[in-house]
Amino acid sequence: MPADTSASRIAALYNPEFLREAGRRLGELLAEHFRGVQNRETSVLNWRHPAENVAEAGMFLDMGTVQPALPIPDEVGERFAVLVRKALERGQNLHSPRYVGHQVPPPVPIAGLFDAVSAATNQPMAIYEMGPWATAIETALVERLGAKLGYAKNGFAGFVTHGGSMANLTALLTARNVAIGDAWEAGVPRQGRMPVLVAHGESHYCITRSAGILGLGTRQVVKAAIDDRRRIDPAALDAQLTTLKRENRLPIAVAASSCATLIGAFDPLEAIADVCEKHGVWLHVDAAHGGAVAFSEAHRHLIAGIERADSVVWDAHKMMHVPALCTFVFYKNSAHRFEAFRQDAPYLFDPSDPGLSEYDSGLKTLECTKRGAAFGLWGLWSLFGESIFGDIVDATFQLTRAFYGLLSDAEDFMPLHEPQCNIQVFRHVPEELRAAPADILGRYQLELRKDIVRSGTFYLVPSNKDGTAALRCAIINPLTTPTDLNDLLNELRARGRSVLSRLK
Ligand SMILES: Cc1ncc(COP(=O)(O)O)c(C=O)c1O
Repeated sequence: MPADTSASRIAALYNPEFLREAGRRLGELLAEHFRGVQNRETSVLNWRHPAENVAEAGMFLDMGTVQPALPIPDEVGERFAVLVRKALERGQNLHSPRYVGHQVPPPVPIAGLFDAVSAATNQPMAIYEMGPWATAIETALVERLGAKLGYAKNGFAGFVTHGGSMANLTALLTARNVAIGDAWEAGVPRQGRMPVLVAHGESHYCITRSAGILGLGTRQVVKAAIDDRRRIDPAALDAQLTTLKRENRLPIAVAASSCATLIGAFDPLEAIADVCEKHGVWLHVDAAHGGAVAFSEAHRHLIAGIERADSVVWDAHKMMHVPALCTFVFYKNSAHRFEAFRQDAPYLFDPSDPGLSEYDSGLKTLECTKRGAAFGLWGLWSLFGESIFGDIVDATFQLTRAFYGLLSDAEDFMPLHEPQCNIQVFRHVPEELRAAPADILGRYQLELRKDIVRSGTFYLVPSNKDGTAALRCAIINPLTTPTDLNDLLNELRARGRSVLSRLK
């Protein structure tokens, strides 16, 4: 291909006028999509077998492409719209009020547009100079959110990383490096005082996974004893730490949860902090889901004592309703911010300007290139103020209490706990199954869920409590109404009939 043709094709790719037109179309397509989804006119999930979707996605790669050229031909805009429509048609519709599934929120859409500024301009952040505004946004948010947790001004440190799993891993790596002074250089000792991690047994799987990655071994995760509300029992924890000491084991941290994944149980942090202080053990709190209660007058008490935690993880892409991924890690003592990764990289980080390296995120994170991940949160907060976050927490927690009321009042439903937040685990137990063995009752829940999800009427998730399958809802869409929840129960009843006939 002649050089000039290639140059004009490249110029067309970067043509701002094409972007203007595509952006206008995108706005219209998204608005129309959300109108239908939010009005319940669209299936929650347009379920298809993954292989069908993969084949269709691949077909688009093979279909005739349009050639970039200036002026941009109309057909490019048309083709762009076709591709966007297809992506919207085939996606999961978190914005449906009938989405009551995983702990993934419908982001406030405007937050997605702020993220688009980050994506389109690409502000990778290992060093300040590559993402000056992305760094400023992140630093300002760390200051505000850390203060919300109750950390002392100027005493703490924090940063953003790619998701709760990576965040927990990073914080626990720091705890390991602090507990075993030379572990970064020499590795984890295989003899002498063997390290362990004490964790809530119903914490997210990334906690145990971290133990594997950190070289402790997943078998070295000691489950903290829990009370009848499935929260860590501080008195039992005290006894467990005493036993571990007697056995010459070294707990690198106690990993508490705000809240634990299974039923959304919030650990009593104040009492746990007392125990950790007594034993000199690092307290880590996974507040990926529940950190946002810091914005709610009514629910802040759930994390009382969190300011005593040595490290905290908080996913803004859960209960702060911004697009994934946007996770914060905090250290109570800012001196710990460089403990996770003790590497020098003089070719990247300029030793002639040590004050500025404070702003080079790559010294604190696993990532080198890091997406400017906090644009959505910064934009949303700056536009509407922080009170919206407390409003959403309160609305979704209140809805979940209403749902619990509906379940408790119904003869054929069994809530498996009182909700502590916006997570509810339950079972449908029609008359025919009241005396059924646990495995049949469990199989019924799973088949029923599959049936509903594939019909597109609602989206909820499977769970397991005490060895028997159950249904689980995170009521995370503030547009969901009590009527939707009542309709969900009726839908479960109606579909349950055909599921029952198939089970027999
Ligand atoms: C309590 C808790 N911690 C950690 C995670 C993992 O976070 P991410 O999905 O952002 O990696 C989750 C995910 O649901 C969670 O609920």
